[in-house]
Amino acid sequence: ARSHAAPSLAVAADVAPVPATAPLTVVYGSQTGNAKRLAEKLARQLEAGAVPVRLLRADSYPVRELKDERRLYLVISTQGDGEPPDDARGLVEFIAGRRAPGLEQLQFGVLALGDSSYPQFCAIGRRLDARLAELGARRLFELGEADLDIDSVATPWLERAVRTAVEATDVAPARQPGATVTPLRPATPAFDRERPFAATVLGNQPLTASAGRRHRSDRDIRHLELSLEGANLPYEPGDALGVWPRNPPALVDAVLASLGLPADAPVKHGDEEHPLHHWLEHKRELTRLTRPFLARHAERARDATLSDADTAAVTALLERDQLIDLLRAHPAGWEPGALVAALRPLTPRLYSIASSRKHVGDEAHLTVAHVQCTRDGESRWGAASHLLAGSGPDASVPVFIEHNERFRLPADASRDIVMIGPGTGVAPFRGFAQERAAIGAGGRNWLLFGNPHLRTDFLYQTEWQQALRDGRLHRLDLAFSRDQAEKVYVQHRLREHGRELYAWLEGGAHLYVCGDASRMARDVHAALVEVIATHGAMAPEDAEAHLHLLQQQGRYARDVY
Ligand code: 2AM
Repeated sequence: ARSHAAPSLAVAADVAPVPATAPLTVVYGSQTGNAKRLAEKLARQLEAGAVPVRLLRADSYPVRELKDERRLYLVISTQGDGEPPDDARGLVEFIAGRRAPGLEQLQFGVLALGDSSYPQFCAIGRRLDARLAELGARRLFELGEADLDIDSVATPWLERAVRTAVEATDVAPARQPGATVTPLRPATPAFDRERPFAATVLGNQPLTASAGRRHRSDRDIRHLELSLEGANLPYEPGDALGVWPRNPPALVDAVLASLGLPADAPVKHGDEEHPLHHWLEHKRELTRLTRPFLARHAERARDATLSDADTAAVTALLERDQLIDLLRAHPAGWEPGALVAALRPLTPRLYSIASSRKHVGDEAHLTVAHVQCTRDGESRWGAASHLLAGSGPDASVPVFIEHNERFRLPADASRDIVMIGPGTGVAPFRGFAQERAAIGAGGRNWLLFGNPHLRTDFLYQTEWQQALRDGRLHRLDLAFSRDQAEKVYVQHRLREHGRELYAWLEGGAHLYVCGDASRMARDVHAALVEVIATHGAMAPEDAEAHLHLLQQQGRYARDVY
């Protein structure tokens, strides 16, 4: 657990009561839904404490109101490369920018979310926290910096935030008629993140050419069909399915053997007590390492090569190695309780849903890349993808729906859509196409897909070809990167068809990008800027501003990871 105060900036001691009629504003910027979930929880807890709340996604926060805002809680994540979530770009730019107003009237608290395996850990939250103070606002309590084991920092931060707000709110506010209090989502579904639904596996087929075929793909990508029957878990195209993974028992055994620990040693942590093997199979991450864990392991192993957490070697190790690899290469002793406390809690994986309920009923389909590699002659897998890839009919998987309001089909079905989804990024677009066909949408659908080889990696090939023939898909452009000497990616196709793309955009088309965040989404963005600059005869900065506007209007949406 970490929590940092910026040392040079004092924490406000005397908190003046704020008129009860002034709602406390909770703003979140969220890429994968964690910040949103926490902000919703915070808003619910504040309401329960009779604090009037308005809860807003960062891109619906009217920045002009900031200079009059009295109390603001910000919950914001940082993407791996130090970027803000897409929905918070405008807000971050406004606050960080030169034209930001003085904020002496404002009291605030920030909860930053991040992943400490990246050097830019919590950079956006840190920046906003420092900048708000610089603008004269009063920090109510220190910045919270939550790592991937979010709740160990977030839970105490939320408690503090609620306590502070309740204490500073004037007594018993009869809610003012007409006060702008956003109604919070009322009914909680029967199944959610903490109480997942056991979904039965109905089907599991390879989408890439697999072993035994003459031409074999380097990848193992699968189509999974799960039953949601009886769960009452409605979803919209664009939403994700959360899957709770479980570590392979053989991996748990290998970790126990390498540490010389007994499988059934009882371990109590927080208010839970389980045998050690249960903790390792169901409750702790074994397939991803974190910097904090590495630092503790380095102390135990007295290994200087591991102790400097910022070297390139350590970054490479974090990307490549699993716990078992670390234990073998750098042996050290761990007691069961200390190990459970230091390892990161297992968290659910989010998969973009690849179906529309209007087409498949009470099912959710997924496009799953089976993450696997070989180390020292042994296979290593990703926890969730291995669980899914190995699930036969009638296996069951704990799941929930993670809504993604930012990745939605146009409300006006006569609008055209352009879907850019290489690799497993194609998943939500299968759902989009099903939905648009089911509602008889008038707009055209353009898909750009890419993968290594046509022969082995054309995901859902027959479905797309059939859709083209039936007029459910209007344009399909393919980029098979390794079928020729030079790499060809989806962004090359965007440039080639730039004139047409620009015409679609001018006609009101919505743009969607799904897939790899660090390289693909960045390169596609650059290609879009270029297309708009070239065909709209604009300077690159104006093209960039145009795309930004589209993003704010909900016409350029990304689901990237
Ligand atoms: P490659 O692996 O042959 O380089 C799905 O993973 C597809 O995305 C693959 O064909 C992959 O090509 C391609 N890809 C890799 N880097 C990319 C990038 N920066 N932009 C777009 N596509 C990329």
